[in-house]
Amino acid sequence: MGEPRYFIKTYGCQMNERDSEIMAGQLDQMGFQMASSDKEADLIIVNTCAVRGTAEQHALGYIGQLRQLKDARPDLKLAVAGCMAQEAGTIAWLKKYASHVDLVFGTHNLHELPKLLDQVEQQDEMVIDVWQSAGEVVEHLPSHRAEGVRAFVNIIYGCDKFCTYCIVPFTRGRERSREIAAIRAEVEALAQEGYQDVTVLGQNVNSYGHDLDPAVDLADLLAALEPIEGIRWLRYMTSHPKDFSQKLIDTIAASQKITRHLHLPVQSGSNPILKRMNRKYTKESYLDLVARIKKAIPDVSLTTDIIVGFPGETEADFEETLDLVRQVRFDSAFTFLYSPRERTPAARWEARDPVPNTVKKDRLNRLMELQYQISLEANQALIGRRDIVLVEGVSRKDPHVWTARSHHNKVVLLDRDPAVDLVDQFVPVRITQAKTFYLTGEVVGPPLPALVNKRRMALPMV
Ligand code: 5AD
Ligand code: SF4
Repeated sequence: MGEPRYFIKTYGCQMNERDSEIMAGQLDQMGFQMASSDKEADLIIVNTCAVRGTAEQHALGYIGQLRQLKDARPDLKLAVAGCMAQEAGTIAWLKKYASHVDLVFGTHNLHELPKLLDQVEQQDEMVIDVWQSAGEVVEHLPSHRAEGVRAFVNIIYGCDKFCTYCIVPFTRGRERSREIAAIRAEVEALAQEGYQDVTVLGQNVNSYGHDLDPAVDLADLLAALEPIEGIRWLRYMTSHPKDFSQKLIDTIAASQKITRHLHLPVQSGSNPILKRMNRKYTKESYLDLVARIKKAIPDVSLTTDIIVGFPGETEADFEETLDLVRQVRFDSAFTFLYSPRERTPAARWEARDPVPNTVKKDRLNRLMELQYQISLEANQALIGRRDIVLVEGVSRKDPHVWTARSHHNKVVLLDRDPAVDLVDQFVPVRITQAKTFYLTGEVVGPPLPALVNKRRMALPMV
């Protein structure tokens, strides 16, 4: 018998992806090997997302399917982790319908995975260990990062904003920032390993550092990361418009490395809805912020998140959102139907004053149609422009095409000469064609020279 193998199925956001890398790192240290599919695994962890009902249903469906695998191989161990594990409703559901699950743990104790797996070995019934609040930030956890030259680094955990629709403050707890020195050391080590594209992560990176002593902010952190040799691109996710300071705008404008892409979730363009969402800004102050960003960083690419059908949203409220979208001209937008979440205030309002489903869907379609038109026009304006892109891999749809990503976080497709391996290289291109969701480009020069001896990896298909 070889080493035991694990498979982690991750739903949700980049924070969850990063948590999965840390779980994988601990399992590697325990002597496990990563399996390429759940069918080959001796341990399967389902890292769940609770942000919308659809994400939950996908995870529950998958957990249900795993019963078959467990029936066929009773030695297989199954664990459920992530944001859904923090909800009482999920635990009750698992106890009732998913007796094949061996372990449930939450977002605050994933560093205890080895101990929890020991407990599973000793105990017949389901092991449930979910902490209601977070302890101290745990440093120096091992991690098994995705292949490539792109890495994600946590800088702040949790969220204190309590937007009235959002479950994250309940599943991820209060804001806890990591020290700049610890983050800097992690990014320096990544640069030494050959990573060149680093994204710093948090539910709300703009409140980074307010809880440290002395207090610091995201601009200070990014300025501290800028000189690290070997790092070409620095990104940050996700921003809250309320805390996006002029100092940060100026820092980005002056930087050689911070990418010119800004994800700035607006959620709605209606002031009464923004107020009820507890977003703490108005349509006017958001537009003012966007104007200041565009002035300081003229080639910025702006993207956003928008929720349609928040309880009580009227046609006039929705028109305000369309108007904001027309004024800002986002490069792209993630658009969501409002989904009521347990324990949030808006879920109670939804019970009293819901927007009918047909109206919600109609508004979503109208919003998407408008945004697609704007995205296409924004992309068309880039034709002829020269840019540097990071080649991510061979297109899944066409082996003669490379998929790359630009400094502005846009997908750029390039003709592929199979004799030349461009994966993980930064190459100069000229944009030749534009579609709603991607650009096409041609390579106009040799790849930029490697900064540090690069890690070797298989050709990823993306
Ligand atoms: N319903 C719909 N969308 C939501 N989001 C967060 N909570 C909800 C909800 N209850 C969206 C927001 C957020 C993104 C990550 O998910 O737009 O920015
Ligand atoms: Fe989903 Fe939010 Fe949890 Fe991320 S933090 S997995 S978006 S609920």
